[in-house]
Amino acid sequence: MTKLDNKVENKHHYDVAVIGAGAAGMMCASVAGQRGKRVVVIDHATKLAEKIRISGGGRCNFTNLTAGPANFLSENPHFCKSALSRYTPHDFLALVKKYKIAFHEKHKGQLFCDDSAEDIIRMLKAECDLGKVSWRMPCKVLDVISDETGFVIHTGQGDIYADSVVIATGGLSIPKIGATDFSYKVAQHFTLKIVEPRPALVPLTFDAASWEAFVPLSGISLEVDIETGEKKNKVVFREDLLFTHRGLSGPGVLQISSFWQAGQVIRVNLLPEVDLAQELVDAKTTSKKNLANYLSAYLPARLVDGLLAAHGFAGDAKIADMQDKRLRLLGDKINRWELLPNGSEGYRKAEVTRGGVDTRELSQQSMMVTKVPGLYFVGEAVDVTGWLGGYNFQWAWASGVAAGQAV
Ligand code: FDA
Repeated sequence: MTKLDNKVENKHHYDVAVIGAGAAGMMCASVAGQRGKRVVVIDHATKLAEKIRISGGGRCNFTNLTAGPANFLSENPHFCKSALSRYTPHDFLALVKKYKIAFHEKHKGQLFCDDSAEDIIRMLKAECDLGKVSWRMPCKVLDVISDETGFVIHTGQGDIYADSVVIATGGLSIPKIGATDFSYKVAQHFTLKIVEPRPALVPLTFDAASWEAFVPLSGISLEVDIETGEKKNKVVFREDLLFTHRGLSGPGVLQISSFWQAGQVIRVNLLPEVDLAQELVDAKTTSKKNLANYLSAYLPARLVDGLLAAHGFAGDAKIADMQDKRLRLLGDKINRWELLPNGSEGYRKAEVTRGGVDTRELSQQSMMVTKVPGLYFVGEAVDVTGWLGGYNFQWAWASGVAAGQAV
């Protein structure tokens, strides 16, 4: 009996093995299964799609109506165009509507479930059931090797054979719910280039001494302009910022964290609609107020007190008595506050991993490794990272569909 005959008779032989039962893996498995492929999904977790479950505060921001290539970071920015244009937010929304899942738009095109992220998991499972997908979970995956007849997946429950293998094991974010470096290990085994992974969409931290003065502001949140980078590399977001005990968080900071490089400053405009330095200088002749009272018309009182103390200004100083230079300095501290983060909260808190399998190794139509026919990478494992706001799931769906149609 030849090796091929052996595989055909083997009950552990599938057309497609998808490793990772997360967003991209389940989407890929359902599409391939519904095309008539015999598909198995393997995952080491006990529950399906833990990240969908905890996403969007339990309500899953499952897509963004505005999602397009400009919302993604990659060393190869054109790569994502093909998959994103062939499976759009409206395609995913049609699926959500088919399952009568109630949803709402929260902010800037972000769509959330009204009830629970579990609705999305149940929908993907039902789509997989339509495709008669088989499941192996929890099942430890040891490695993936290829031979002349296909792929062998060594698992804690014995070997599984497949003509195609889709690696959908995501990135390194949130190890406590099962994130591993498996996708990078497979990439290394097949000598694929990897763009160095790093935490993204993550709170930023500051050294304890320089942050001490801002610790009392912990819990305060406000809309700001936040930017990093210089000239043509400069990026700016207008989003909420949240003070924490160790540094800054909130959507604005998470957005900027994906672009921030160690050693770079970030700049925060705490009052984006007001030229405060000019206002303060003008107020010298029109206002009898002290600094704290004057600023409280613009910013929460606790924030005003904390900022004045942290920047060395007395709240009870009368504006009329202050030098223009001091007022301008205060205006700058609020309109153009420059900070040097010392790092981030890391993978423990990062919503995603930036970097991953170098897209120059993959076909943009199918997500297949060009030099290893039959091997595919999808979702967060790949060097395509979305902004905050439903973009990362849209990439998971779109790349999963692209591979599911091709395997
Ligand atoms: P995903 O991580 O979903 O799935 C990977 C699967 O592989 C998991 O089931 C895991 O158990 C399995 N696996 C890993 N290693 C393995 C191994 N060695 N062997 C076997 N199985 C293995 N995005 C968004 O668009 N909107 C949102 O609201 C949010 N919210 C959000 C909140 C939080 C707290 C986090 C951490 C992340 C988000 N995200 C998000 C990001 C989003 O969750 C993420 O981008 C997608 O889940 C990525 O989908 P993947 O399928 O690629 O990986």
